Amino acid sequence: MDTMRWKQGCLEILDQTLLPGRAEYINCDRHKAVCDAICRLSVRGAPAIGAAAAYGLALGAAEIEAEDRAGFIVAVEKIAADLAATRPTAVNLKWGLDRMLGMLRKHSAVDTGLLKEALLEEAHAVYREDLESNRRMGAFGQALVPGKAAILTHCNAGALATAGLGTALGVIRAARDAGKDVSVYAGETRPLLQGARLTAWEMLREKIPVTLITDNMAGYLMARRKVDLVIVGADRVTAGGDVANKIGTYGLAVLAREHGIPFYVAAPMSTIDFDITSGDQIPIEERDPREVTHIADVRVAPAGVNVWNPAFDVTPGSMVTAIITDRGTACPPYAESLANLRRGSF
Ligand code: MRU
Repeated sequence: MDTMRWKQGCLEILDQTLLPGRAEYINCDRHKAVCDAICRLSVRGAPAIGAAAAYGLALGAAEIEAEDRAGFIVAVEKIAADLAATRPTAVNLKWGLDRMLGMLRKHSAVDTGLLKEALLEEAHAVYREDLESNRRMGAFGQALVPGKAAILTHCNAGALATAGLGTALGVIRAARDAGKDVSVYAGETRPLLQGARLTAWEMLREKIPVTLITDNMAGYLMARRKVDLVIVGADRVTAGGDVANKIGTYGLAVLAREHGIPFYVAAPMSTIDFDITSGDQIPIEERDPREVTHIADVRVAPAGVNVWNPAFDVTPGSMVTAIITDRGTACPPYAESLANLRRGSF
């Protein structure tokens, strides 16, 4: 099932808030509709929101009436700023938009019609290349998975979070395809249950054995030696290897270290933010308290209670065994290994 698809001037986005109950697409024919879909988490996961934002910019460009190149570019930059403001943590969003704007500024055409077409082509390329990147991560990552392995993952870093196979789940799929006997423990991922709703759904459809646990069961699961390794995705990795990912990831890394279990992160190079070195510099999105006080619109906490709802946390690179990218696997020290991957010397 496509996370998003382009049809006749319209971006159709699979509404992940309805899964696993219903599989319905939202028709976005204006960039504001894409902004809303990203804010609501109808489309979510770092690479997927990068691609959605790229398509959103192409849609926004088509809305612009300015005929002159300079006025057109200023208007596109304004729309890019609206899209960039939707979610602050996943750097892929900014990466996708920067790539689109970079292409636009370099494009020599003065005809705005041609510029609009070029933006749409670039959005298609962002989406297409993500699938290829998933394949490469899978190939590199599966080499780290033993012949028989129970793998704990968190949130959803699967096909639904990308253009195709997924990052963490892409590695798991590749290990299965390589003939390995893999099974998955999926943490439910409160408050929005991406693990229970999306990862469990994806793994069942893929016929990869999956067992669902609530987030607070992970420690006991590890203590009972039921997990061989942990693989998660990432929303932003610093040049020093600190990893922002779905809230709860840091707790799993601490538990994995305590129990001597490898803790892997799978993330494409577009998730690595070489402009910052420390996790303290990553902006962490805080979301509506209602996500914590309610489950599926049913209030589960008393009205008036204070709520803290950070959507992500930061795991220090020192707790990460290896970072699987689409250019190869980086090992500590990450400042050196990630820089080498960036330079292409790997
Ligand atoms: O809030 P979400 O659902 O967008 O959070 C998603 C995650 O944290 C994923 O683990 C991350 O984006 C990696 S997706 C390949």
